[in-house]
Amino acid sequence: METKVFEDYESVVRSYCRRFPTVITKAIGSYYYDEDGERYLDFFNGAGALNYGHNNPYIKKKILDYLNSDGIIHALDMYTVAKREFLDTLENKILKPRDLDYKVMFPGPTGANSVESALKLARKVKGRENIWALMGAFHGMTLGALALTTDRGPRAGAGVPLNNVTHIPVPYMFPELDTIKYMQTLLDDCHSGVEKPAALVIETVQAEGGIYVFDSEWLKQVRKFCDDNDILLIIDEIQVGCARTGTFFSFERAGIKPDMFTMSKSIGGYGFPLSLMLMKPELDVWKPGEHNGTFRGNQIAFVAAKAGLEFMLDNNIEAETKRKGEIVRDYIEREILPISSKLSYRGIGLIWGIDFGDMGDDTLAERVQDECFNKKLIIERAGRKDQVLKIMPALTIPDEDLILGLDIIKGAIMMQLNDNKTLGLRD
Ligand SMILES: Cc1ncc(COP(=O)(O)O)c(C=O)c1O
Repeated sequence: METKVFEDYESVVRSYCRRFPTVITKAIGSYYYDEDGERYLDFFNGAGALNYGHNNPYIKKKILDYLNSDGIIHALDMYTVAKREFLDTLENKILKPRDLDYKVMFPGPTGANSVESALKLARKVKGRENIWALMGAFHGMTLGALALTTDRGPRAGAGVPLNNVTHIPVPYMFPELDTIKYMQTLLDDCHSGVEKPAALVIETVQAEGGIYVFDSEWLKQVRKFCDDNDILLIIDEIQVGCARTGTFFSFERAGIKPDMFTMSKSIGGYGFPLSLMLMKPELDVWKPGEHNGTFRGNQIAFVAAKAGLEFMLDNNIEAETKRKGEIVRDYIEREILPISSKLSYRGIGLIWGIDFGDMGDDTLAERVQDECFNKKLIIERAGRKDQVLKIMPALTIPDEDLILGLDIIKGAIMMQLNDNKTLGLRD
């Protein structure tokens, strides 16, 4: 396997290829294939960009038909049939049935682009500079989004102060703290030293933060707090939207409606770059062209995105995700937790984390991940010090492949703990 050209010429900033050092040629469903013909089960799912699997045949056919018809590919933000059909589908099949009334904008194609647009609009609407975000948050790597993101590693790369953001503690960090009361005190106490924000930005499940699922009741209280205090609530749906948690939008489970929300990753249907920012109609106070860009709303991504929504609805992906989520929960409880009382787990739908943080060996999670890769399973880590193994397969994964991947994880943990015993380390 030839990797020299990458090592010689691609910047050292490259990341995932270091964890998964192979050269991929193709991918189908839940499997990658490398150039040596090895097959890898995918529990990483393009960091959440491939909810309907690699090269999903239904979506692929729509893309090929579009390409064969010489459908326009690049059109800036001009009116096109592909965009009209996507917007119609989003409006009539997804938003209206859920009683959601939002306008849609297309920022640049990445998640961070969408977050930047939401921050810009919130500040413009409210005329306030400050934004509140949650400790443990991940919202992307561009400067505005990075100012919300709390991980010290990426923040250190900013090169300038990351300001105009206040970070709020989350319930899992301080179970005794009433975080809603804390936020109210920041506003009410004239000695809090904290500026009132234009918006509070949250994920309903902190994914990169370590798979922390916020309680529906807490999310409702957050909504009420924002309403009571004239603060916009922005929900970042980029990683856990598109049915990942078992409902198309992750906030549905709490019965709340954000003022704005961001979407990217799997909204592109096929792994194509596409991002959306949805806002309540009265917040759409942009001037024409005020948030412009060359690659806003790629046409082939619109075709794939529309097909992705159809596929999701026609195949009951939301219900299937809930059902498969129970398989994972049951497996972890029955097969993995008994391995050590110091292991813990969290999750919802098809995003789960196995937490090695209390195991007393900070290298263990990485060694388990490496062992999984040796056994041909691609899986990522998340959370503080990357101590959480993140289970995030395609929502289309067949049950037997789901179990196969879980068996590999179990075997990898047992093998690494046995190695620890041999080395005289704690388990
Ligand atoms: C919740 C969340 N927001 C924003 C982003 C940034 O998206 P992108 O990497 O496409 O800029 C990510 C990426 O992982 C994410 O998980």
